[in-house]
Amino acid sequence: MRHLLSVEDLDRAAIERILDRAKSFTEVSEREIKKVPALRGRRVLNLFYEASTRTRSSFELAAKSLSADVINFAAGGSSVEKGESLKDTVQTLSAYQPDLIVIRTPHVGAAQLVANWTTASVVNAGDGKHEHPTQALLDVYTLRERLGDIDGKSIWIVGDVTHSRVARSNIHAFQKMGAHVTLCGPPTLIPRDVTALGCDVAYTLDGLGEADVVYALRMQKERMTDSFVPSIREYAAQYQIDGRRLGARQVLMHPGPVNRGVELAAEVIDSPQAVIGQQVAAGVVVRMAVL
Ligand code: NCD
Repeated sequence: MRHLLSVEDLDRAAIERILDRAKSFTEVSEREIKKVPALRGRRVLNLFYEASTRTRSSFELAAKSLSADVINFAAGGSSVEKGESLKDTVQTLSAYQPDLIVIRTPHVGAAQLVANWTTASVVNAGDGKHEHPTQALLDVYTLRERLGDIDGKSIWIVGDVTHSRVARSNIHAFQKMGAHVTLCGPPTLIPRDVTALGCDVAYTLDGLGEADVVYALRMQKERMTDSFVPSIREYAAQYQIDGRRLGARQVLMHPGPVNRGVELAAEVIDSPQAVIGQQVAAGVVVRMAVL
């Protein structure tokens, strides 16, 4: 496979192959010289048109740990609004002969477009509210490390599902790995067509006790054109995961950045159930495997 644009393109065997490769890279970070020569002489272009802390830094670190030469290009969201100018940018930067382009944009389908314009391999690092495949892969990796196996597990994804590319990629990845997914949030933030994806839907947290894994999402204000909840306070009262709602045997995940006091209460962020830090760490080895 030349590109990684969507989890939909991966089957379970392909996901497992990437995760096994990722696992084999964990010892690199324990070395004194934290590098392997796998991509020596290759060029990786990181093209980020949208804010990012974890994804961007871990792609950079992953590429450098593989000895690739890395070009980081950051553009303010407002400077590139049209497909044409994205195309111009990609064609301009293609003069540097990148072997791989990692791209994040606010536009659904942009990674696919870039793949059509370049001879480089393309990795989707988030295209609008569509997909974020490497996030899903690092989440499955983190869960495998914590639970051993996620076959038959119940995973609740709670919050703003409608605007979340993380939710879309993770639904596919969790299901392909044999888990059962329930989406929970206010009706305005759960897309109508989700039952077609084979997920259950819950509009309250009443049944949360059945979940083995609670995956909380951030309210994607930057993708909302309207008000989808009466108020943040009202939302938190109904859907915030706090110490009362989270069970002792449940695993808590969040892709970051967390809005403390909105989707998660401070006490659960720092609880032993939370694997949020492990998710961030997994980002490096999983992205090394993908690259
Ligand atoms: C997510 C993203 O940007 O899609 N963050 C991430 O990549 N870790 C989720 C978010 O922004 O809420």
